[in-house]
Amino acid sequence: MEKTHYKQEINMTPELMARINELISHYPEDKRKSALLPVLHEAQDAHENWLSIELQDKVAEILHIKPVEVYEVVTFYTMYNTKPIGKYMFEFCQTSPCCLKGTEDLMDYTCEKLGVKVGETTADGLFEVRGVECLGACGYAPMMQLGDFYKEHLTEDKIDQLITDCRDDKIILHDK
Ligand code: FES
Repeated sequence: MEKTHYKQEINMTPELMARINELISHYPEDKRKSALLPVLHEAQDAHENWLSIELQDKVAEILHIKPVEVYEVVTFYTMYNTKPIGKYMFEFCQTSPCCLKGTEDLMDYTCEKLGVKVGETTADGLFEVRGVECLGACGYAPMMQLGDFYKEHLTEDKIDQLITDCRDDKIILHDK
């Protein structure tokens, strides 16, 4: 089967490169690879939350490593996206403490409200629902991650409000 190749416009702005170089500066010159995870986050955040092969190659070039070393990491972690995704990714924690507090029902509720299945993007490109493993905020179950932030003690009313706020462009996704 032929694999879809998603196109992405790559824009390594001076601001983005300054943030990347700052991250790299935390490591010795011969250990630039150690900055790979945070650099990928920066690159992804600056490119509509996904990393094309071309962008991964660019990261490899910046870190002086082989492209395959980047591909391995990007495909291992669920936090990196290799195709275009919804602008607002609702990442529900699906580990036991959150499930006991109703995550599954909330995911069903959210999917029904948005008219998608888990892993699908809404037709307007705005939303996607995903299940992830424990996010370390079990005391605030049920919870999800939205951008860089946690949304905790979720209820159907809170989901409704979040969806409205996203549609009204009132949600901040990144803390920088
Ligand atoms: S089980 Fe959901 S945050 Fe830990």
